[in-house]
Amino acid sequence: MSAAGISRPHESAVAQVAGAATYMDDIPEIRGTLHAAPILSTVAHGRLLGVETCAALAMPGVVGVVLAQDIPGDPMLAAFAGDEPVFARDTVQHIGQVIGLVVAETAMQARRAARKVQLRIEPLPAILSVQDALKAQSYVLPPVFVRRGDAAAALASAEHRLDGTLEVGGQEHFYLEGQIAYALPLEQNQWWVYSSTQHPGEVQHWVAHALGLDSHAVRVECRRMGGGFGGKETQAGHLAVWASIAAHKFKRPVKLRLDRDDDFMVTGKRHPFAYEYSAGFDDSGRLTALKLVMAVNCGFSADLSGPVADRAIFHTDNAYYLQDVDIASYRCKTNTQSHTAFRGFGGPQGVILIETLMGDIARRLRLDPLDVRLRNLYSEETIPGTSAKRDTTHYGMRVEDNILQPLLSKLELSAQYRRGREAVLAWNAANPIIKRGLAITPVKFGISFTATLFNQAGALVHVYTDGSVQVNHGGTEMGQGLNTKVAQIVADELGVPFERVLCTASDTGKIPNASATAASAGTDLNGRAAQFAARHVRDNLAAFVCGLDGCGAGAIRFEGGQVISPSTTRSFNEVVSMAYANRIQLWSDGFYRTPKIHYDKTTLTGRPFYYFAYGAACTEVAIDTLTGESRVLKVDILHDVGRSINPAIDIGQIEGGFVQGMGWLTTEQLVWNDKGLLTTHAPSTYKIPTAGDVPQHFKVDLWPEPNREDNVFGSKAVGEPPFMLAISVYEALRDAIASVGDGRPVRLTAPATAENVLKALAG
Ligand code: MTE
Ligand code: MOS
Repeated sequence: MSAAGISRPHESAVAQVAGAATYMDDIPEIRGTLHAAPILSTVAHGRLLGVETCAALAMPGVVGVVLAQDIPGDPMLAAFAGDEPVFARDTVQHIGQVIGLVVAETAMQARRAARKVQLRIEPLPAILSVQDALKAQSYVLPPVFVRRGDAAAALASAEHRLDGTLEVGGQEHFYLEGQIAYALPLEQNQWWVYSSTQHPGEVQHWVAHALGLDSHAVRVECRRMGGGFGGKETQAGHLAVWASIAAHKFKRPVKLRLDRDDDFMVTGKRHPFAYEYSAGFDDSGRLTALKLVMAVNCGFSADLSGPVADRAIFHTDNAYYLQDVDIASYRCKTNTQSHTAFRGFGGPQGVILIETLMGDIARRLRLDPLDVRLRNLYSEETIPGTSAKRDTTHYGMRVEDNILQPLLSKLELSAQYRRGREAVLAWNAANPIIKRGLAITPVKFGISFTATLFNQAGALVHVYTDGSVQVNHGGTEMGQGLNTKVAQIVADELGVPFERVLCTASDTGKIPNASATAASAGTDLNGRAAQFAARHVRDNLAAFVCGLDGCGAGAIRFEGGQVISPSTTRSFNEVVSMAYANRIQLWSDGFYRTPKIHYDKTTLTGRPFYYFAYGAACTEVAIDTLTGESRVLKVDILHDVGRSINPAIDIGQIEGGFVQGMGWLTTEQLVWNDKGLLTTHAPSTYKIPTAGDVPQHFKVDLWPEPNREDNVFGSKAVGEPPFMLAISVYEALRDAIASVGDGRPVRLTAPATAENVLKALAG
């Protein structure tokens, strides 16, 4: 039996359940290790006049403080926009910005002392909303415009028109393992950094930059994260830099582990969005014009906001053909945490807007929302008066692999959508207080980093003389099962059992210049690189066996732990030890770069994505019209992962992504007060979904076709796309709310907390 294509447990599952898997904080501390805690700004925007540390220094166990003047290298982080200081110096830009560190013998001593630091800050006017940022033209990056056709003219001539606004909140990553770094000075100004990071290569680069060293002097390792979700793509770098600067100053190892409240206050979140739109459509519900302004709350610095806001533009179509369209995207600078990558990377904020429009169009025309969605899908239909088809995105990429028509039809049947619609209508007619709602929404998510250069990966495969295999690649394990899938691919390539292959920690000393594990492309990139590395070793072994048996290399098969030539069957182990004795290379590297992709950054046109991942969800909800409380009752998902490398892991990703998306749109509310203080900074006030929120009926099916593009094993990326299926929850909630309205558009601010549902019910 082959190792890939079958369900098997996550490679660390048993160790994780037993508490035997090592996370950063479990690594035994070197003697002399110190602990750091951050000194946080208490003002959203102000002039930093002084930092009084006397009281803190007098606290038990305190070794010293670290401030901007202690940075040996560049006081600005090596972030691409160069707009983030390592430690705030003359000005502070949000409540929770890190001004320095207190370093002590224990973490608790450092934290207690950090609270004793007195800050003298002269407040300056703060910008706390995107509306104020727009008025002040306060941007972290210049606005971006994408246009096709003539949206104004198309709006003017449209049969129907909808104008509106929408606000969608951000989201805290709430990884179970908080941000953490452990920096160890080695001999001759060389460094070892343990970092819970999705991007060890960037941590290496940032630490070297801050310490004024060459990259080769810094080695970064990460065996696994207790979740990242995008929150450890850049944010992990900050902690590693801070810990390293402290370690540099005191010449001792320093560990920095944020407690949960500080993690909330310091690190960026999903970008909140505000939209203003005008849509034109015809009697059949077909969208003919869209004019959209997206105001993206980026926080105080650029971080990844450019590509996040771009991806929102790229996903404004979701599954639908936009003929005349005009999108303006403003990257607003506000005095809050610098918002960052979060599962979907702006995609969800693009998709939700067009899905709300589909729902609103259907209600306006008294059509079924699914019918309106089907009518607007990308298709092979020709546009009247032209030879063009309704198959090209607003950024000029043809949707060649579209399966949404059959996928939606299949889900419509398997989830019994039409019957469900009748049942919901009957329920709502009979029940005055509890109202139900139903919605199917699709997703089409572009796979590849939009920054084309990141779509490359490397791997090393080592075969030892006993026939056991070790693989190392540039990706990171954050619970998503990347290492399991990569090991399956390598085992499959060498025809050995899965147990013979071990994936080791991500390490900048093994694979250099690796991209972040992000954009869902971890397996596509690293899996392929590892497959190539394994293939090189296999080719060496095949050539060796051919020499022994006098056959062509193509005649050798690697299967079931055996190497089979036309004349002889040998065990893999035997072939390996014979090859070693004959001085055959038993290890290799592999390198992969994604083909076909290109795109023009200035016009945002081209083919930014290698392929699309598709899916759809059918969701039924109930709301209590007296309290605004809601529940997700029933979810049916049909999702496209291509030919699955590991169905159990893929289904786990789909379930997890969906529930995390549900949290974003229902209970997870970030509240900043009028001073810019994030008041929801602990699980007491910030509510992520629990096991009890998982719908009773939760059925996930996989689409049974391989990827139409040549991707590793025929699979498709799965990490982020299912997140957007949770928009069906939001649409079902709006459907339930509409059942008590008089046909007016449903204005539901996301997240749909009880308060926001009540507000929407009130109109
Ligand atoms: N699944 C778990 N369990 N933990 C995580 O942190 N991150 C998500 C997704 N699934 C995440 C996860 C995000 S944001 C991305 S981009 C992908 O996993 C990254 O991994 P992949 O590219 O290997 O799918
Ligand atoms: Mo995922 S947001 O691309 O780390």
